[in-house]
Amino acid sequence: MTFSDDRSEHVTGRGGRGRRQASERIDLLREQIRNHNYRYYVLDEPEILDSEYDLLFRELQELEEAWPDLVTADSPTQRVGGEPAEEFASYRHALPMLSLANAFDLGEVREWQGRLYRTLELTRPEEDETDPSLDRLDYVTEPKFDGAAIELVYEGGVLRIGATRGDGETGEDITTNVRTIRNVPLRLSRISSDDRPVPNVLEVRGEVLMLRTDFEQLNRRRRDAGEAEFANPRNAAAGSLRQLDPRITAGRPLLFYAYGVGRVEALAGSGFVRHSEVLQALAGWGFRTPDRFLVANRLEEVQAFYEELVEERDATPYEADGVVIKVDELELQTALGEVSRSPRWAVAYKFPAQQATTVVESITISVGRTGVLTPTVDLTPVEVGGVTVSSSTMHNEPELHRKDVREGDTVLVQRAGGVIPEVVKVARERKPRKGRFKFPASCPVCGSEVVRTEGEVAIRCVNLSCPAQVKERLFHWGSRDAIDVDGLGEKLVEQLVEQGLVKDPADLYELTGPQLAGLERMAEKSAQNLVAALERSKRASLDRFLTALGIRHVGIHVARVLAREFGGLKPLMDAEQESLEEVHEIGPEVASQVVAFFSRAENRKLIERLLASGLSPRWPPEGAPRRAAAVDLSGTTFVFTGELARLTRDEAKLLVESLGGRATGSVSSKTDYVVAGQVAGSKLEKARQLGVEILDEAGFLQLVGQE
Ligand code: IVH
Repeated sequence: MTFSDDRSEHVTGRGGRGRRQASERIDLLREQIRNHNYRYYVLDEPEILDSEYDLLFRELQELEEAWPDLVTADSPTQRVGGEPAEEFASYRHALPMLSLANAFDLGEVREWQGRLYRTLELTRPEEDETDPSLDRLDYVTEPKFDGAAIELVYEGGVLRIGATRGDGETGEDITTNVRTIRNVPLRLSRISSDDRPVPNVLEVRGEVLMLRTDFEQLNRRRRDAGEAEFANPRNAAAGSLRQLDPRITAGRPLLFYAYGVGRVEALAGSGFVRHSEVLQALAGWGFRTPDRFLVANRLEEVQAFYEELVEERDATPYEADGVVIKVDELELQTALGEVSRSPRWAVAYKFPAQQATTVVESITISVGRTGVLTPTVDLTPVEVGGVTVSSSTMHNEPELHRKDVREGDTVLVQRAGGVIPEVVKVARERKPRKGRFKFPASCPVCGSEVVRTEGEVAIRCVNLSCPAQVKERLFHWGSRDAIDVDGLGEKLVEQLVEQGLVKDPADLYELTGPQLAGLERMAEKSAQNLVAALERSKRASLDRFLTALGIRHVGIHVARVLAREFGGLKPLMDAEQESLEEVHEIGPEVASQVVAFFSRAENRKLIERLLASGLSPRWPPEGAPRRAAAVDLSGTTFVFTGELARLTRDEAKLLVESLGGRATGSVSSKTDYVVAGQVAGSKLEKARQLGVEILDEAGFLQLVGQE
């Protein structure tokens, strides 16, 4: 980065501050912002409102813009910086990053303990005559985080390097990416005066993770955008860390957990006696450390802690694949040393496998809502990680053939991240196998022709009234993210279609209580409930309605974007490809699917019938914040720049438009207001040059009567 110095003089006049005052204020702001970041990202306990934080951040940004020579790399404004890299430089760790030996049951943990005692030439507790119950060693037990291991190097308390583990000896220098992780401190300081002084050189080791909820949200967005999804949070975290463009990493919700140190050079040696003190010191320097850990000297306690974590496994915010048991005393760790790249002083006690083998009983083809033929593998039920698995989808024909799964095969199945089970591979066996599975040449449900659309792997049944498609469309209509009709389950849909009562969603609204009560396993009361649920569902909001229509690539997220942008069904139905593509987050593929859907006569007719039976998709949804009617923004133009904290960019624009104003993309002399969020860039600069009024988010909300 280069900064020219020649503006400082002008700014002295404008800002009314001298350099010394500016510098003092900058220091104070950075300290405050660091403290708030720590409270927000490490402790999860913010102390101020986002809007108040934004004000501090903005003030710092402005001062730094005015005094570029006062910008330092550890300033909170400098998290995302630099151009995309061509490739990563390699980085040699001062001390190797070792791996861990595994234990799969308590017996193996005891064996490990036995080796500790032998190496240290200690008597085992059960052989100790004075007190057989007392173990001589203290153990720290932590979750084994399932993410990507990294090392952070701090010199003089400032983050200099972030590197991947690599092969343990040499990793990749991913400093620019690591800096974007919000809870990685750019500068260390003591949180309280009780904490140890920050060492001169400190290498911190830990794991970069993505929380399950963040992972799911990221995948949902990718799915809606037609992008490939990540297989699990670990892959997502590792993939995000290794982006050549740090701006991509900055957009990914990563977190860092510190669980150890490498090199420590402090005035009075490292001063650490125990690993538990290391964890405490790391927390005192501003790191997030394992939120649950145990210090105990008996393996029974370790086992109880392990069992607790196994129990909570699917409910923890992050994925862990075991616990790591570490000898607490550092001197003993040194005495124990390492064998074949693993320390003797620690062991990974793994959680029960999420994999198992079983037999393929049959392969069946199901037909989905859009007519796609999906192979399903029916399995002899088997328990995997505490859940019984009896079938698994293969997604499509190429996948089935790539894995070459055949009836009668023994296969390895796994549950990844507590979700849908998948067939990993076929076990190699000597016994003769059945022939390759033949994909049907016609729809297995209605017998119609099947086709493969160019450029796609999916094979589809072309018959729109294929009973399988009809059922799936109806089931989708009633599902949670769509219209959400309580009680419209799979079995019921099946009956409704088979009895010829319903062919499309509009038919649902013509059903009567007596008709329903005539169905199998349908008491009068449940029939009434369903009619009531259908009646309620007429008030569904526009985003749900759009999701329910089942337009390709339009899941709830994209539907919401469209609803926000168009505000009503009619404008969206009439929208052209170009105006759709102009919408942030809507690409050409989604746009053309939307246009194609609404241009089909049968779809328009269906919508007409739905509206006639009383559905009135509204936006914003009922119960959304009411606007202050008094505010009139007609003739007023806004430009938004930087990230807003309380609203999305789209919401802010929608708000402006709903009050009669205009939101545009670039700043000109005709712009009335520039609303600057966090990390606002050149637009803010332009606004200053042109003398356009600048608002922060709080100021904006006040102006539009939302504060
Ligand atoms: S201690 C040599 N503590 O496990 C000591 N490692 O198999 C190793 N890991 O690459 C580091 N959670 O990525 C330690 N609480 C924890 C851990 C942990 C996960 C990973 C780490 C390392 C791998 C070793």
